[in-house]
Amino acid sequence: MTTPSRALKIAVFGATSAIAEATLRLWAAQNAQLFLVARDRERLERIAADLTLRGARGVKSFVADFDDPSILAPMLAAMEAALGVPEVALVAFGTLGDQKAIARDPEAVRRTLLTNIVSPAVLLTALAERFEQAGRGCLAVITSVAGDRGRASNYVYGAAKGGLQTFLEGLRHRLAKSQVQVLDIRPGPVDTPMTAHMSKEGFLWATPERVAADILRAVGRRRTVLYTPWFWRWIMLVIRHLPQPLFHRLNI
Ligand SMILES: NC(=O)c1ccc[n+]([C@@H]2O[C@H](COP(=O)([O-])OP(=O)(O)OC[C@H]3O[C@@H](n4cnc5c(N)ncnc54)[C@H](OP(=O)(O)O)[C@@H]3O)[C@@H](O)[C@H]2O)c1
Repeated sequence: MTTPSRALKIAVFGATSAIAEATLRLWAAQNAQLFLVARDRERLERIAADLTLRGARGVKSFVADFDDPSILAPMLAAMEAALGVPEVALVAFGTLGDQKAIARDPEAVRRTLLTNIVSPAVLLTALAERFEQAGRGCLAVITSVAGDRGRASNYVYGAAKGGLQTFLEGLRHRLAKSQVQVLDIRPGPVDTPMTAHMSKEGFLWATPERVAADILRAVGRRRTVLYTPWFWRWIMLVIRHLPQPLFHRLNI
């Protein structure tokens, strides 16, 4: 493979996520220049070293908890020092938690909404300014099929992801006259640490590698909403349109 003369510049927020790491490995193999942010310093350093071995042209990292608003300015200054405005920003952090416990704990509801909608929306607002001024690039954000319809098994997380989907739809509308792509990535269940407590029976589970390959393809094709694997688009179409009496009989 020939090395491109100019490396693709990519920033990943939530770089220790299993889906983000699988995606980063594909970008490293394309000799991309990377800026990584996560809160676990040790894992972040391990991932950065691995990506360098896999071909990344340069890897800079920054340690941050996204729920701390004071990190926004220094983090984005570090990103700009490392890459300028990148071609792709992937927002991958999130928490699922235990819905049964969250549903009875107001503080857990607050924390779930903070991490899964407030913090990404704050970050994306700051990123959007920079991408709009650059007049190019892709804001790629992992939401979830859980955002498509509220259901008993995950409605607090689902509410945050649904809110984030709407935020992205509005941001895409605002940026429609620019060349900035806003990609809403909606995976079904993926075998990652987030779902470690769940049984993995059935054919609906995907690997982070499968989702990563779909993300790269969707970025390349300038898609707006990606269901991954593809069949989730049709499953969720049915689930969204189920009449309420029938929906209430389902244990999902
Ligand atoms: N796995 C699924 O079935 C599935 C399905 C649909 C959508 N998603 C979404 O996909 C994305 C990636 O998740 P994953 O499946 O790859 O799970 P994961 O491996 O558990 O990754 C989640 C990441 O979010 C980070 N994170 C959470 N809160 C943070 C905070 N306040 N500050 C900094 N980092 C924070 C975690 O860091 P620590 O490790 O340090 O806690 C971890 O790196 C998430 O947005 C998730 O909601 C996952």
